Amino acid sequence: MVNNTQNVRFTKSNICLGGISVGRRYIALMRYQTKSPRETQQIAGRLAKKIARQKPGKEAVVVGLIGDLGAGKTTFVQGFARALGIRRRMVSPTFTIMRRYRIPRRRIKKRAPGSYYQLPISYYQHLVHVDAYRVHKPSELKVIKFESWLRDPAAIVLVEWADLIEKKYLHRARIVRFRHQKEGLREVVVRGF
Ligand SMILES: Nc1ncnc2c1ncn2[C@@H]1O[C@H](COP(=O)(O)OP(=O)(O)OP(=O)(O)O)[C@@H](O)[C@H]1O
Ligand SMILES: [Mg+2]
Repeated sequence: MVNNTQNVRFTKSNICLGGISVGRRYIALMRYQTKSPRETQQIAGRLAKKIARQKPGKEAVVVGLIGDLGAGKTTFVQGFARALGIRRRMVSPTFTIMRRYRIPRRRIKKRAPGSYYQLPISYYQHLVHVDAYRVHKPSELKVIKFESWLRDPAAIVLVEWADLIEKKYLHRARIVRFRHQKEGLREVVVRGF
């Protein structure tokens, strides 16, 4: 692992653990400590906007969310969705395994030297929220067309309990790990963004 820490701000609760350079991209491993659900949502929002600005690849962006019951995975998804302009209330997809939300193609004005540009806020169209805790048989992933969502370049797929599904689905995934520290306090470790 290359220890390259440029462009990373250090505060007590925001620590860069290192990272790797892939081509021109620098992928950091970040550790945050959040003191409230709101703070967890803010981190999620920042990451969502970062992804939304990146041009889609050949397949979906996959984010695996790993952590115990009540660690903050759904809270993270809520902040992520809101930052993309999704207004619908997010609930845990406990009974449905999956929910899909349309990402609005809202346009924003951005100032450039001497002119204004209209830019899409997001290149992506679908936010797919999966709760793998409820997946008991691989065939259930077929029913929700999980693999075809993973291949859709216009989709961002967030998977709660990503550690419970087969690894083959997650080889390109960005990973967020949540740890319950004490009441109200969570450690959030982010890799691959
Ligand atoms: N710093 C924090 N970040 C996130 N959630 C927090 C924090 N502090 C307290 N909480 C509370 O912890 C709970 C997290 O619940 P959430 O549904 O997000 O967890 P989860 O990881 O999705 O659980 P599950 O495995 O059951 O789906 C919420 O009740 C939230 O208010
Ligand atoms: Mg949840």
